[in-house]
Amino acid sequence: MPLTPRFASRLSDIEPFRVVEVLTRATELEQQGRDIVHLGAGEPDFTTADPIVQAGRQALADGRTHYSQAGGIPQLREALSRWYQSEYGLVIDPGRIMVTPGASGALLLLSALLLNPGESMLLPDPGYPCNRHFMRLVEGRGDLVAVSAESGFQLDSDLVGLHWSEGTVGALVASPANPTGGVLNREQLRGLSEAVRERSGYLIVDEIYHGLGFGVETPSVLDIDQDAYVINSFSKYFGMTGWRLGWLVAPAAAVPELEKLAQNLFISMSTMAQYAALAAFAPETREILDQRRDIFAQRRDFLLSELLKLGFEVPQCPDGAFYIYANIKRFANDSQQFCLDMLEQHGIAITPGADFGRNRASDYVRFSYTTGMDRIEEAVARMTRVLA
Ligand SMILES: Cc1ncc(COP(=O)(O)O)c(C=O)c1O
Repeated sequence: MPLTPRFASRLSDIEPFRVVEVLTRATELEQQGRDIVHLGAGEPDFTTADPIVQAGRQALADGRTHYSQAGGIPQLREALSRWYQSEYGLVIDPGRIMVTPGASGALLLLSALLLNPGESMLLPDPGYPCNRHFMRLVEGRGDLVAVSAESGFQLDSDLVGLHWSEGTVGALVASPANPTGGVLNREQLRGLSEAVRERSGYLIVDEIYHGLGFGVETPSVLDIDQDAYVINSFSKYFGMTGWRLGWLVAPAAAVPELEKLAQNLFISMSTMAQYAALAAFAPETREILDQRRDIFAQRRDFLLSELLKLGFEVPQCPDGAFYIYANIKRFANDSQQFCLDMLEQHGIAITPGADFGRNRASDYVRFSYTTGMDRIEEAVARMTRVLA
C-alpha cells in the first residue's frame, strides 16, 4: 500500500513565492508562442559582469572546488571590510563579516540565532515575503505590521512602540525596500535603532539593494548603530543572483555562534563563487556595475512617469532597488485578478501585492524594471491600449 504523505505542520504556514509562480506561468505562455514582457522578476536582467565571470573561470581552473571556511574565505571577508571603508567610511573588522549563501542564507542564520520558539520579530507589511517564513522555520514568528505611505511604507519608532509585545525580540526592515524601492534616511534609521534598543531588542537591516540608489543617500545602519545586524548580498547591485552569495555583519560576540550554525547548516558557501566575487570590487567591474545602475535609473524615470500618466498611483517614491509599487484602484479592485489578466490577455508579467503581505495587498502590484527599455516601452504601449 502506498504510504500516505505526512508533512510537518509548519508547511501549512509557509506560502509559495508567487513571483516564481508568475515566472513559471509566463514561461509556459512563452513556450506556447506568446510574447511576454517580463516585469515580474526580482533580479537584474544583465548577466554577471565579465571580470567576475573570468575570475570564476580562473577559480575553476585553479581547482577551487573544495569546501571553504564556514564564515567565508578570509580574502572575501577582508575585501568586504575594505568595501565598508571605501563606500561608507566605516571600519568593520573582517571578523564581524560572514559570507553566506545569498542574503537568504543570512536571513536563515539570523532567524536561528535570535529567535526562541514562540518569539517574534516585527516586519513591515508590505515587505519581502520570505522573511516571515525563515522565522516560522525556527518556530518563531514574523509579526506583520501594516505600514503606509505616511511612514514611507517602513516601520518607524511609533509603530515599533505600538506593536512591540511580550515575546518580540526585534525588528527587520529593508532599505531600499522590496517592493516599494523606499530608502530609509539617517533620521529614520536612528529612530528605529533607538526604539528597538530601548526595548533591548535587535535591529536587522537588509541592505541587499544598496548600490542601487538613484540620487539619494543610502546610509548603512552600521553608521548609526554598530550593534545592528546587517544583511547584504552579491545578488542585486553586483548582479550575481545565480552564484548564491551574500553576507552579514554581526556584533563580534555573535560571530562564534553564527559560525557554529553555518558549519552545521551549510558547511561552506560555493568556493568558486567566492573567488569570483573577489573581482566584484575591481575598478573595471565597478565601472560596469555603475553603468548598469544608471540604466536602472533611466528605466525607473521612464516607467514611473508613464505609470502615473496612465493613472496608477505610486505613493512611495521608488528611490532605489528596481521596483515600483503601484496602486491599481483606478482600474480594478483585485490586484491578483489584474495581474492574471495582464499576463494571460496582454502578455505583461507583474507581481500582485499579495506576494508582499496582506496589508491592502489587493490594491497594489509591483513592477520590476528588470528588462530592456524597448520591452518596457512595449509594456507601456500594451497598457495604454487597455487602460487609457
Ligand atoms: C529584500 C530581499 N532580501 C533578501 C533577498 C534574497 O536574496 P539573495 O538570497 O539572492 O541574496 C531578496 C531577493 O529578492 C530581497 O528582495
